[in-house]
Amino acid sequence: MRTVGDGDRPGLEALWQMFRHDLSEFDRSRPLPDGSFGRERLRAALVEPDREALLIVHEERVTGFALVRGLLGPCRVMSGFFVVRTARRTGVGAGAAHRLTAAHPGPWEIPFQEDNTAAGRFWRRVARRAAPGRWTEERRPVPGRPDLPPDTWIRLTVVGSPGDRRP
Ligand SMILES: CC(C)(COP(=O)(O)OP(=O)(O)OC[C@H]1O[C@@H](n2cnc3c(N)ncnc32)[C@H](O)[C@@H]1OP(=O)(O)O)[C@@H](O)C(=O)NCCC(=O)NCCS
Repeated sequence: MRTVGDGDRPGLEALWQMFRHDLSEFDRSRPLPDGSFGRERLRAALVEPDREALLIVHEERVTGFALVRGLLGPCRVMSGFFVVRTARRTGVGAGAAHRLTAAHPGPWEIPFQEDNTAAGRFWRRVARRAAPGRWTEERRPVPGRPDLPPDTWIRLTVVGSPGDRRP
């Protein structure tokens, strides 16, 4: 994985649109009049000091991204995570998630929609491996979206080991 640089931004924006389109099935969002999905969370990830955007690179090709917030506080939040369809079910996502969480030992929160069954299976498997016996989950309402079922939030505590500081 690598932190997004200025030259990566157009590519990240394209991946963001794929991500939002995938999730629109579950969050029932529609594109803006220009055909794109809103980018507020992506823009925040690029400018807010407590956030980071990373590209997932596999076999020297950009394969997805991860957004993290809470880097300056006590708990990190996985605020976006995406693997392109052609690389799915190959372990790319799990590998990236483990490297990223290991690079920031301590508490993490990971929200997802239960209707997104792939995400649920994926994140529970990541939690079982990254934090065996040290993870829980709870349901929280989606702010401003009473029409949606509550999100599931996984809370885990990642124990660090020397050498894990780089995702
Ligand atoms: C969820 C997502 C990140 C998984 O990425 P991935 O690279 O395909 O995941 P991996 O190959 O590392 O899968 C690891 C394990 O997660 C589970 N898993 C992943 N995708 C799954 C699916 N579609 N159905 C069931 N289980 C799945 C499996 O246990 C899998 O292990 P296995 O392939 O040995 O059975 C990817 O499907 C994606 O980007 N989806 C769209 C965006 C999204 O939903 N992001 C998460 C929002 S919170």
